[in-house]
Amino acid sequence: MNAPEFSLQGKIILVTGAGGLIGQEVCDAYAGYGATVIATDNQEIGKLNGQIERLKKRHPDRDICGVSADVTSEESVENLFLGIKEQHKRLDVLVNLAAIDAKFDEGQNAIDLSRFERYPLELWERSVAVNATGLIRVTQHAIRLMLSQDSGNIINVASTYSLVAPNQSLYQTDSQSPPIFKPIDYVGTKSMVPNFSRYVATFYARDGIRCNTVVPHGIFNEHPKAFQDNFAKLSPLGRMCDLKEIRGPFVFLAANASSYMTGSTLVVDGGWTAW
Ligand SMILES: NC(=O)c1ccc[n+]([C@@H]2O[C@H](COP(=O)([O-])OP(=O)(O)OC[C@H]3O[C@@H](n4cnc5c(N)ncnc54)[C@H](O)[C@@H]3O)[C@@H](O)[C@H]2O)c1
Repeated sequence: MNAPEFSLQGKIILVTGAGGLIGQEVCDAYAGYGATVIATDNQEIGKLNGQIERLKKRHPDRDICGVSADVTSEESVENLFLGIKEQHKRLDVLVNLAAIDAKFDEGQNAIDLSRFERYPLELWERSVAVNATGLIRVTQHAIRLMLSQDSGNIINVASTYSLVAPNQSLYQTDSQSPPIFKPIDYVGTKSMVPNFSRYVATFYARDGIRCNTVVPHGIFNEHPKAFQDNFAKLSPLGRMCDLKEIRGPFVFLAANASSYMTGSTLVVDGGWTAW
């Protein structure tokens, strides 16, 4: 490789939410740049194993494994880290991607209840359990291991809704139907992420551990045409993000190329928050 500072050779990387849209792409990028990848998700193990098999076919020389774990369960996360210590002895990079978005996970019911004044607090609490408490839980376990090895690198994943409020007109895709709103659970739980990264970054800066945030936005995933059109009008680049365009920022933050970065927020939003 002509740019060794971007190589991930020899690095052991744990990705949570690895079975999701971004998770699969990022695991593939990390394996491609030479890392050992531990992919974890709470989805059904057969699905995760299928993904691991596909990854291994694409990267036959890499050490890639899938571990089922639920970030809302202390026991589950503890077992995940026991396995990492036993098998790999160390962890160089943690990527916290696991999250839920109640509006989309709950279907039509949640859409009807998506107005702030009617938003069910049970859904807020479910999102807090995954997106906030789950994030903290996994990070605590990783930090304990990273402190024992005097080094580590954590990448948290926020949203443009960590930085600005949703423009609700994005979600109004059908003039005949009642308006759909981006609900508070996702916005509220994602808002903590950049400052959580700054907290971790400054707390452990002298321990060789760095922590940064990636802010993805609008990754295209077969969205309806009306949504794409709304997005294009509101976006300075005039289009959604291609999944491949998220690889570079995640590789950069995991690699030594970003060694002087900690506590920072890398915004990958096509300019959404620039105006
Ligand atoms: N896709 C986008 O456009 C976009 C934009 C901004 C931010 N993000 C953020 O990027 C991250 C990944 O997004 P995505 O689009 O890949 O989402 P996704 O829903 O496809 O993936 C999230 C993954 O997290 C897993 N997960 C959910 N609850 C879990 C739990 N309790 N324990 C373990 N795993 C759990 C899910 O099974 C899923 O595979 C999220 O943090 C999301 O907020 C995505």
